[in-house]
Amino acid sequence: MAEVTFHHVKKAYGPVTVIPDLSLDIKAHELMVLVGPSGCGKSTALRMIAGLEEISGGEIEIGHRVVNDVPPKDRDIAMVFQSYALYPHMTVRENLEFGLKIRKTPKPEMDRLVNEAAQILGITEFLDRKPKQLSGGQRQRVALGRAIVRKPAVFLFDEPLSNLDAKLRVQMRAEISTLQRRLQTTTVYVTHDQVEAMTMGDRIAVMSKGELQQVGTPLEVYDRPANLFVASFIGTPPMSFIPATLADGGATVTASGFKMPVPQEFRAAAAGRDGTKVVLGIRPENIREASREGGGATVPVTVKVELAESLGHEVIVHGRIGDELVVAKVDSHRSPQIGDTIPLVIEADAAHLFDATTEKRLGS
Ligand SMILES: Nc1ncnc2c1ncn2[C@@H]1O[C@H](COP(=O)(O)OP(=O)(O)O)[C@@H](O)[C@H]1O
Ligand SMILES: [Mg+2]
Repeated sequence: MAEVTFHHVKKAYGPVTVIPDLSLDIKAHELMVLVGPSGCGKSTALRMIAGLEEISGGEIEIGHRVVNDVPPKDRDIAMVFQSYALYPHMTVRENLEFGLKIRKTPKPEMDRLVNEAAQILGITEFLDRKPKQLSGGQRQRVALGRAIVRKPAVFLFDEPLSNLDAKLRVQMRAEISTLQRRLQTTTVYVTHDQVEAMTMGDRIAVMSKGELQQVGTPLEVYDRPANLFVASFIGTPPMSFIPATLADGGATVTASGFKMPVPQEFRAAAAGRDGTKVVLGIRPENIREASREGGGATVPVTVKVELAESLGHEVIVHGRIGDELVVAKVDSHRSPQIGDTIPLVIEADAAHLFDATTEKRLGS
């Protein structure tokens, strides 16, 4: 089993730098998700681990071995792509055997590995079919099978579920998580989908424009986003952002429609900083009805409803406090109508503060 380390890795295509300086430690056995919007450099980072892209600067280590100049086939990795990349003229069994044959695996060992992988993935009954006789989900299982028969030190996944419909995606992401936990193989998993990242990652690394924004467990990143980018990218419906100013010696924060005590976490950082422009971030679940149970101090606000989306068990309310747009979650038994003004509360200590200039979490 292997750690994967990026040490000041740079990637440029000619004059264009797409990854300026990436340092990241992926621990042995963990499932690390690289997540970020399209074009932020996730695939490039993954392909550099695989050896499919040259590294322009810095070092990548797999299992404490610098692999910058090691050809892909000698890196002991297996990669799964969105496109499955199966050989259409070969049966499922032949697809699974392909990498093993190249490595001159003896036939009995090959049969054992293929049968074991097929059983784990529930594709035994399809072993004699060609890929075109399979559904998308079955094809993706074969692609997974091709990766696991090799028993590599590292799995690399590049948006492997993007071609599947929503329901199958949910099922396959659970299957991949379970499989990874069972095999304990170090895994780097790339996706643009923050729900996939949150649900699958032991840790997630959030990227934007080639730069790492934050690394942590899903809950660490959700509860303490390091900057406005991470705060807006992780969580759905997204966090609301309200321009505000520190006042009263840094004890309160004032916005256009209301004022509230500075959340506990930020008291020390805010002290004495009257007049500092901040951005107040509040997740939808932290703007709620006063009657619903919740911890800590609350601040009453009135929300003018502009849109109400019922999800059955709850209603997502898009509305305004003063001039500011916010998203709140309310119980489904009340059905707010467009134009209604409803009384809600903000859970003060669950709010986030960001420096309006640096966009960083206040005090970090
Ligand atoms: N071969 C290439 N030549 C020039 N630019 C490239 C090449 N491949 C990718 N890029 C650029 O690198 C950036 C990162 O791409 P990529 O790693 O594919 O992003 P992601 O996987 O996060 O969507 C993008 O701006 C993309 O246009
Ligand atoms: Mg990509």
